[in-house]
Amino acid sequence: MREKIVAGNWKMNTTIREGKELTENILRGISSVPAGVTLIVAPPFTHLSTISGIIGNTKNPGLSAQNCAAGEKGAFTGEVSAAMLASVPCQYVILGHSERREYYGETNEILLEKIQRALANGIRPIFCVGEVLEERESNMHFQVVSSQIREVLFKLDPDDFKKVIVAYEPVWAIGTGKTATSEQAQEMHAFIRSFLAESFEDLANSTPILYGGSCKPSNAAELFARPDVDGGLIGGASLKADDFLAIAGSFA
Ligand code: 13P
Repeated sequence: MREKIVAGNWKMNTTIREGKELTENILRGISSVPAGVTLIVAPPFTHLSTISGIIGNTKNPGLSAQNCAAGEKGAFTGEVSAAMLASVPCQYVILGHSERREYYGETNEILLEKIQRALANGIRPIFCVGEVLEERESNMHFQVVSSQIREVLFKLDPDDFKKVIVAYEPVWAIGTGKTATSEQAQEMHAFIRSFLAESFEDLANSTPILYGGSCKPSNAAELFARPDVDGGLIGGASLKADDFLAIAGSFA
């Protein structure tokens, strides 16, 4: 049985007070989350310590950052290291999000360094892949996603790779309200799993692959019912506790 995961990427939203309230509301409803589903919240860096304190020792929901530095430590003004995240403690970090790739020039090369740094500090990466609209329209989506995987994940040792969570986020579906159909998601997730098996034959079948892009309570059940969709990476809908919990409750 693969892990089932619903992670909320808050992006650059909420003040600390709003983030506290959101976390408290999630905790209030956490008993509704089906057994065996891992819930994760990914607030901005400034909130991590406070929210870690609210979550306490249960580590439920798990805590994720939205980025980390490639460098270890030192003169990198404005950066936050993987060791700092581990000291919060943070158990996960989102890496390779299309917004980081597009607006901050994060290449596969940089992302490999970041992933290795996270893993060296005991943090599990949630590694995002996905194509833009023109790539899908020109039928390049499998090629784009396979090179994102080949240039990053295939460079990891199997012992490291087994801690990785993959998130397929078609860029045209992020924040657009236009979700991938469950057929499109399943097709890509199955492709990712079989591609991963080329390098990690014994592990691909247990790698969690999450879907992200306009996932909401009204479409989560259909997406999560697909055999290779192991949960979701949720943006907008993770900012409302009720919607986030409803999505987590959408596994059959
Ligand atoms: P939306 O759910 O707002 O489309 O965002 C998805 C996403 O980018 C999660 O990382």
